[in-house]
Amino acid sequence: MVETEHRVQSEFETLYQRDYSVQAPDMRRLYENAKRDQWNVSRDIDWTQPVDLDQGIFADGLIDGFGSPLYEKLDAAKKRELNVEFSCWRLSQLLHGEEGAMLACSQLVDMVPTNDAKFFQATQVVDEARHAEVLSRYLTEKCGGRIYPMSANIQHLFDYLLGQGKWFIKTAGLQLVAETFAVGLFRMLAETSQDPLLKSISKRILLDESRHMGFSVIGLPDMIASLSPSDMNELEDFTAEACRLVLRGQFPREAFEKVGFNASEIDEIKKLRVESAKSSDYIYFRQIFRREMYTQVVSNMKKVGMMTERTAANLRKLGIDPSIDGRTANLESQLAN
Ligand SMILES: [Fe+2]
Ligand SMILES: [Fe+2]
Repeated sequence: MVETEHRVQSEFETLYQRDYSVQAPDMRRLYENAKRDQWNVSRDIDWTQPVDLDQGIFADGLIDGFGSPLYEKLDAAKKRELNVEFSCWRLSQLLHGEEGAMLACSQLVDMVPTNDAKFFQATQVVDEARHAEVLSRYLTEKCGGRIYPMSANIQHLFDYLLGQGKWFIKTAGLQLVAETFAVGLFRMLAETSQDPLLKSISKRILLDESRHMGFSVIGLPDMIASLSPSDMNELEDFTAEACRLVLRGQFPREAFEKVGFNASEIDEIKKLRVESAKSSDYIYFRQIFRREMYTQVVSNMKKVGMMTERTAANLRKLGIDPSIDGRTANLESQLAN
């Protein structure tokens, strides 16, 4: 039987804040944006729109092993089948991540210092519930209920986030790392998916996620500036580990198995994936998005005051250039309006 729940022990301090004055105007603005931009999964998504699974869901170029001899020897029907299983595996991981984000944010409501931040976190709980709702409904109603189990990496990351008691570690893991990558991923899905319904869902989620990313950029700098050296070390190490968990080892083995790949073929795909990630002829749009994602991670780390020597070294180990510079238009526009 597929496991559909597990328990995490957690202990943290709840701060019952009764100073209701505005202490962080930027955070209040983000809260105002959150209230203004609420949407409703039942009302604002056109669920009558059919999803044609024979067309595929993600762009084929996102499938690991795309274009390799192993991939090319599949007939058209098998390619479609792989596309559907692969896409549903990835969407399932996003779904489990949304559920975990909802749980982590409900803890953050208790823990974060000001009421400005608490109010914002209360909106994020609703946002993440909505994301879990929309993805589970898409997978259930439109993709034949293909919800795959949570990957080991996602579970590891969220169990750690939920189980430990410092809010700045939770925020670094969730809003600074996981959400920054989620923004990149949903942008890629919004622009490249073959299924129009998934495109429109991704666009909606994307707007919420960039606001969540904004929470870390506004909320973390003061906290980080006041950390003791040992807390700072813990934060740097955990952030690097969170990046590793989000970037690596998320291999959709079950999707390949479902389509009939054997163990040695799956190993070959896994190897191809690492090699093609290094090669310059890697799928063009995948490269663009990866670069954008890395740029955003680096720029957010600089903004919150975390780009120390140790962080830079940790990023280099993951193949991310800490001197990369670029646009953060997404966040800036979120904060500007
Ligand atoms: Fe989310
Ligand atoms: Fe989020």
